[in-house]
Amino acid sequence: MSPEVFSDRILEWYSLHKRDLPWRNTQNPYIIWLSEIILQQTRVAQGLPYFERYLENYPSIQDMALAPEEEIMRLWQGLGYYSRARNLHACAKDIHFIYGGVFPESFQELVKLKGVGNYTAAAIASFAFGEPVAVVDGNVFRVLSRVFGIAEDIASTGGKKIFENFANGLIPKQNPGEYNQAIMEFGALQCIPKSPDCASCPLNQSCFASNKGMVAVLPFKSKK
Ligand code: ADE
Repeated sequence: MSPEVFSDRILEWYSLHKRDLPWRNTQNPYIIWLSEIILQQTRVAQGLPYFERYLENYPSIQDMALAPEEEIMRLWQGLGYYSRARNLHACAKDIHFIYGGVFPESFQELVKLKGVGNYTAAAIASFAFGEPVAVVDGNVFRVLSRVFGIAEDIASTGGKKIFENFANGLIPKQNPGEYNQAIMEFGALQCIPKSPDCASCPLNQSCFASNKGMVAVLPFKSKK
């Protein structure tokens, strides 16, 4: 399957099945950054009320930068991985005091921010600024591994790199942000980890794993 056919099918599926989530109706990098930090190790249903509370308390990055640390930490209570909240505040302060309140716009610059790794930088760069750089999370590993029969170990650094390169080769120049959202949503709702409903999948005919009976064994993840 060509990259164009793949991305067209994923986008078509997305237009029919996507959830209406608040951070999808904006190109504001502050709102996108906030949502991605909250969702890093957290499910959408759990993260949503936190996202809304932070935005209510801090409508802009300036409001967050100038807030007391204790208040930022208190609002995070119950979400876990508290270093995310400390990084959230540190990053807000850096943007306010060092970057003049303006988010950097490229993947290369975004990845330098505190608490922003490759995944989050790609999400902000593509969703907010239309940069064609692939987001690669657990959902994307699963979809690519199954559809294209990539058996590299997703627990290894080398394996992750191969998926990243492959994903960047698929990304459409037009609407890369929408496509990134679409492939993640496809992994979250259709190409799910256990017993996916392949009969209803628009990629079923050309899916490597489905054709070879390997849906249950891909992606491959070694135990470390
Ligand atoms: N999980 C992480 N980022 C997400 C996003 N932008 N939409 C839905 N789920 C996500």
